[in-house]
Amino acid sequence: MATNNEIAIKHTNQSQFPKVDFNNLDFGKYISDHMVVANYANKNWGEPEIIPYGDLPMSPAMLSLHYGQSIFEGMKAFKMKDGNISIFRLKKHHARMNKSLARMCMPQISEPMFTETLRTLIELDHQWVPSSEGASLYIRPIVFASEPRLGVKVSDLYKFIIMTTPVGPYFSKPYRLKVEDHYVRTAEGGTGFAKCAGNYGGAFYPAQVAKEEGFDQVLWTDHKDHQYIDEVGMMNVMFVINGKLITPSLNTAILDGITRDSILTLAKEMNFPIEEKRIKLTELEKSAKDGSLTEAFGTGTAAVVAPIQSFNIHGVDYTIPLPDANSFQLKVKKQLQDIRSGVTEDKHQWNHIIKIK
Ligand code: COI
Repeated sequence: MATNNEIAIKHTNQSQFPKVDFNNLDFGKYISDHMVVANYANKNWGEPEIIPYGDLPMSPAMLSLHYGQSIFEGMKAFKMKDGNISIFRLKKHHARMNKSLARMCMPQISEPMFTETLRTLIELDHQWVPSSEGASLYIRPIVFASEPRLGVKVSDLYKFIIMTTPVGPYFSKPYRLKVEDHYVRTAEGGTGFAKCAGNYGGAFYPAQVAKEEGFDQVLWTDHKDHQYIDEVGMMNVMFVINGKLITPSLNTAILDGITRDSILTLAKEMNFPIEEKRIKLTELEKSAKDGSLTEAFGTGTAAVVAPIQSFNIHGVDYTIPLPDANSFQLKVKKQLQDIRSGVTEDKHQWNHIIKIK
C-alpha cells in the first residue's frame, strides 16, 4: 500500500462546500467533496485513490445487492481547540471493521491502507470539519461485494469506499420505547456484533411498526424468549440503577460499541460503579417501579448518548427521570467531548491527530 504522499488524488472542480448550511446540518444531508475508493481483485486490494464524491458505475448483478455482503463503519473527526483535527478511536474502528469483514467472508483491510487513505481524505477536505461545539465530521467507510454474477457465491471482487458528512450536535427528544417481544434484531450466532448492512435493513420494519403504535423506537430483547435486553434502536443501551451503571454484556447478538466502551472506561475513572451483565426485563420493570432506575440512555457514534424517557411492556408504560445537569449521561458526554476537542488530556490515546497547517 502506498504511503501518504503516494495516494493519487483527483480534485473536484465543483466543490459543494459553498452550498453547506453549517447551522442546519441534518445527518448525512451534505457529503464532502472527495471520497476514497479501492478495488479488490485477484485476492488483493489495488492502490486506493481519492476522487471527487459522486456516482460510480455498478452492475445490477453485483453480489452485494443480492446476497448482502456489505459492511460499514461509523466514526467521527473533531475540530480541536488548537485547530488540528482528531479522529476518535480510529484503531478500534479499524479492528471492528475487520471483524465485520471476517464474519461476512470479505477481505481484510490493512491498518496502513485504512489510516493513510483516511488521513489523506481528511487533510484534503479539512474545511468540512465543523467547528461549533458538539459538531463533527461523520466518517462512513463501507466495503461491499461488486462482482457482477447471479450465482450464489462469495464474491471475488469488492469495493472499499470512505465518504464523510458534516453533522451537528445531536439533540433528540427523549425516546419512548416499545419493548420488542415479537421481532428480533438478530440472534446469538448471527451477525448482530458486526456492522453489516442487513442488520440495519432488518430493523426498519419493527421500528416502523413501533412508530405507528406511537413509540419512537424499540428496545430489543433476546431472540430466545424476549426476557433479556440487548440494544435500543441502532445503539447500545445503558441504565443507572441504584447508582450503578449497568449495560448488557457483549455477545454475538450485540454490537461491540465504541462509544459503549469509551463510556465504560470513563465511568471507571469517575469511580462510578459499573456492571456488564445480562439484564432481565423483570429487573428493569422492578427498578422502574421502585424508583431505583434513575437513568436510561442509548449510546452510539452518531448520537453519543440519547436519553430514554419511557419503555412499554405489554401495554404498560414505565417512565424514567429525564437527565439533568448532574446526571451521569450528560457528565460523561461532556468528558468525551472535552477529550475529543483537546480540552482535557487524552490519557488513552483515543485521538488520532491530523495536523492542519
Ligand atoms: C452510529 O451510531 O454510528 C451508527 O452506526 C448508527 C447509525 C448512524 C447507522
